[in-house]
Amino acid sequence: MSLLSGKGTAHRSDTAEMVAARVAVFDAGLYEPVVSAVADSVPDGPGTVVDAAAGTGAYLSAALRGDRVGVAVDLSKSCARVAARCHPRVVSVVADLWSQIPVADGSAGAVLSVFAPRNAAETARILAPGGRWVIVTPNPGHLAEIVEPMGMLRVGDAKARRLAADLDGAFDIVSTRRVTAVRELTAERLADVAGMGPAGFHRSRTELESAAGDLAGDASVIATLDVTLTVARRAV
Ligand SMILES: C[S@@+](CC[C@H](N)C(=O)[O-])C[C@H]1O[C@@H](n2cnc3c(N)ncnc32)[C@H](O)[C@@H]1O
Repeated sequence: MSLLSGKGTAHRSDTAEMVAARVAVFDAGLYEPVVSAVADSVPDGPGTVVDAAAGTGAYLSAALRGDRVGVAVDLSKSCARVAARCHPRVVSVVADLWSQIPVADGSAGAVLSVFAPRNAAETARILAPGGRWVIVTPNPGHLAEIVEPMGMLRVGDAKARRLAADLDGAFDIVSTRRVTAVRELTAERLADVAGMGPAGFHRSRTELESAAGDLAGDASVIATLDVTLTVARRAV
């Protein structure tokens, strides 16, 4: 289902090639420690779980326990197609987070923002009383071993400042946790990890595979996941 207005958006949605790379990364379990940490941070209880910029829906499907229902929201049609199949109780919607999250006021038990743009005002509007905002942001050390050789974007300190600004006033932090894990990547997975992120917008698959081959050869390289998981609730 698409809720785009037709006016277009200034934001870039992930391409089909980037989504295929993301599917391969999650299928290989490379982000499993982050997926589990997100799922564990979603409190049991009533209310929809909304994944705002859901990508393939990997985090959302892992977070749905009992008979809970999920809504996957993403600007990318390719993402929405994959997310629609991620779980039988997930509804997948193409929508721009900067317009409106297509969910009723106070109806979300949890909102997920994982490596994603954040609309704090909309999140505050849809969260139910007692609901949680589960946010994952990369730390400067995230995938640091492969950032430069693969032409990926370096994570700066601004991410933490931006998160503080988003939460300021409207949200209280419930918990903060760092999740790190060392992963071993073959050349193919290396191209996928790079290609599923912003590098996928400016480097072709052939370029990424060539860089990955130079780095990993027939063996593998080590890359460290390093993220912060923040859980927040609406300030009263
Ligand atoms: C880095 S990916 C993260 C996806 C997913 N949360 C994950 O970690 O696997 C960022 C996602 O944000 C989506 N996106 C970017 N701008 C958006 C917007 N304005 N509204 C909705 N989704 C957006 C992209 O299409 C992409 O799926």
